[in-house]
Amino acid sequence: MSKDTLSVTDNRTGKQYELKIENGCIRAMDLRQMKTDAEDFGIMAYDPAFQNTANTKSAITFIDGDKGILEYRGYPIDQLAEKSTHLETSYLLMNGELPTKAQLHEFTDKITHHTYVHENIKSFMDGFRYDAHPMSMLASTVAALSSFYPEAKQVRNKEVRRHQMTRLIAKMPTLAAFSYRHSQGLPYIYPNNDLPYAENFLTMVKSIGKPNWKAHPALVKALDVLFILHADHEQNCSTTSVRVVGSSEADPYSAVAAGITALYGPLHGGANEAVLRMLREIGDKKNVPEFIKKVKDKDGDKKLMGFGHRVYKNYDPRAKVIKKACDEVFEVTGKNPLLDIAVELERIALQDDYFVQRKLYPNVDFYSGLIYEAMGFPVDFFTCLFAIPRTVGWVCQYEEMINDNEQKIARPRQVFTGQRKRDYVAIDKR
Ligand code: CMC
Repeated sequence: MSKDTLSVTDNRTGKQYELKIENGCIRAMDLRQMKTDAEDFGIMAYDPAFQNTANTKSAITFIDGDKGILEYRGYPIDQLAEKSTHLETSYLLMNGELPTKAQLHEFTDKITHHTYVHENIKSFMDGFRYDAHPMSMLASTVAALSSFYPEAKQVRNKEVRRHQMTRLIAKMPTLAAFSYRHSQGLPYIYPNNDLPYAENFLTMVKSIGKPNWKAHPALVKALDVLFILHADHEQNCSTTSVRVVGSSEADPYSAVAAGITALYGPLHGGANEAVLRMLREIGDKKNVPEFIKKVKDKDGDKKLMGFGHRVYKNYDPRAKVIKKACDEVFEVTGKNPLLDIAVELERIALQDDYFVQRKLYPNVDFYSGLIYEAMGFPVDFFTCLFAIPRTVGWVCQYEEMINDNEQKIARPRQVFTGQRKRDYVAIDKR
């Protein structure tokens, strides 16, 4: 008869152990009973980069990387992208259920009325160099928000915590837009609370000299779809950073600032920026085979940016939706000339043994940059466009961590490989 346990023999001692298997996992702490003698610390699990370690239980986002499935609270991503809005999806992520009309109205109202930032934030922004990267500005200003709302320290008070979650979702587009305006040397545009979330953001970024400037509805829709696709992605690098920082009971602003800095890296959210730079470097469809050759040459430092994923070993379901959104955006903006290079890269890579064997498929960042560029965003602003929608994911994961009785301050172990105790040598004797 099958049993949900794992039998282990420690060949150092001959002792046998039976470890419980729950949700396909053994508890790493169960290994600690396996000792060679009473002094022994016990066995630990060594897992650089958490490749096979579940750090938490979570009920927010489900991914099946082999089948290419992504669901928020059980709803498939393609259905949400087609039928929902970013704020409705945010409500779903935060509360576990889709809202009624009244609940959505109340939630939208709350978010809309927290879009303004303290006037001092503008002077704070002005302190940055003219060419500061917008992600550096965003991370710093979000961290600074913690000083504007000292009550945020009451992380275990649900009402206070929810208030900060609302503020973060509401203010992130304003802060991102301000960082854009600063980097372009343009005056800041205040939020217009008559406009929906994505449109309000586009207006704060784009409008110049025309008080009645109106974003194209197709572009607003496409941006909102991109926001939905980026809203959460379970325990990725930035979300784990948010959880780890939050586990010390740091306030949500400080934790989310850590998420933004983690997202900045080119292996994570910074990949959308890296993809565009890569496509420009390739320059022409005819250069694609040569570029693929360089990627496969491991001595070089080239990667096919926007390809591969720690979890997806199949086509990233978000990339499928984005590919479709590309057509709708290009109908308005005209085709991004880099699209042909991207399509050719994908075609060749998906037939090449190197990529097939390693199960490397396009991820969310492969096509998103093409849309952002077609919409007229500069390349170094792309990752901010990822950070805005991911904010809801970060705050939901933060709250789930705070409410999880099994969680404690995050504190991994190490395998020490350095020198052990030795006597100090005076400088003239070295
Ligand atoms: N181009 C070329 N080879 C690759 C790539 C790539 N983009 N990605 C992985 N590989 C190779 C890698 O060299 C390794 O080969 P080998 O087995 O011969 O050593 C094999 O595939 C397995 O890769 P890995 O580095 O062990 O995989 P990982 O899970 O540690 O890394 C990744 C995942 C996303 C960091 C990596 O695929 C990558 O660097 N991709 C490019 C950057 C990128 O597009 N990042 C965005 C990720 S999706 C958005 C997000 O959530 O952040």
